[in-house]
Amino acid sequence: MSDIASLNSRFAIPGAVSVVSSNGNLPAIHINKPGLCSGTIYLHGAHVTAWKPEGAEEVLWLSQKSGWQNDKPIRGGVPLCFPWFGPRNSTEYPNSPMHGFARTKPWSIESISESPTSITVSLSLQNDASTMALWPVPFMLRHRITFSRELIMSLEFTHAAKTPIPFEEAQHTYFAVGDVREVKISGLSGARYIDKTDNFNEKDQAGDVTISAETDRVYLNTTSAITISDPVKRRRINIQKENADATVVWNPWIAKAKAMPDFGDEEWPHMLCVETANAGPNAVNLAPNQPHVMATRIAVSPL
Ligand code: BG6
Repeated sequence: MSDIASLNSRFAIPGAVSVVSSNGNLPAIHINKPGLCSGTIYLHGAHVTAWKPEGAEEVLWLSQKSGWQNDKPIRGGVPLCFPWFGPRNSTEYPNSPMHGFARTKPWSIESISESPTSITVSLSLQNDASTMALWPVPFMLRHRITFSRELIMSLEFTHAAKTPIPFEEAQHTYFAVGDVREVKISGLSGARYIDKTDNFNEKDQAGDVTISAETDRVYLNTTSAITISDPVKRRRINIQKENADATVVWNPWIAKAKAMPDFGDEEWPHMLCVETANAGPNAVNLAPNQPHVMATRIAVSPL
């Protein structure tokens, strides 16, 4: 039996969930629950690439130029950054991949369950020789995603080290927007942020965030709900975070989009990353035997 057939025999739910060989022959779970929503999650990176409540437009953005390879992250959807965010600050491990290794590992399906109003997929990843060579920590990660009228993503980390383990993480969500130059992001006013486009200088946010140039910011100590108001798509995207002290806002704008091989030159106006994170000064230091769960809950409503 092929891997896909065997996964289907264990996890498919007739009329709602199937495992398919998708882009790049990577295994993906397709969800289509009539009256509720549709969605897709790849085992590669435990990466959600689509979610659409029935009757609404697709909420997540996915690049037409994304690569679909075992050793590359998918461009769009929700990459998981773990156990570091951005380039790793380490001379000891010079070959560390950007944003950690979790987004390029094959995760395992633990369970898929159905309720009248949702489908929940649980995927897991454990340390192996390749992760230990980069990050010598015995660990267990679980990404539990509930597809319903809302999208709820919950990333759980536990480790078996004897001492506290510092780490960073993000659910690096790419949202589909009509025109990024027209959107307003509320919920971050008054916060201090690190401006990665300006030599990592710290600045204060006054009022809503708007995008009029390359934007790459880590908003610190931000736990309130965030709303993206999109007058072109005429919708609001509401983002609630749990156990996530940082919020990253990113749009590459023109030159950086052109420089990325897996990002279309003309795609940047149509995406906006608002990322649930614990990064930089908001990194976590997790004591032994202490589960840590970071979560994002997303809902859409008309504007
Ligand atoms: C953002 C970072 O979260 O991710 C940016 O703040 C980075 O600095 C962006 O450019 C995309 O990263 P990557 O590795 O997916 O190209």
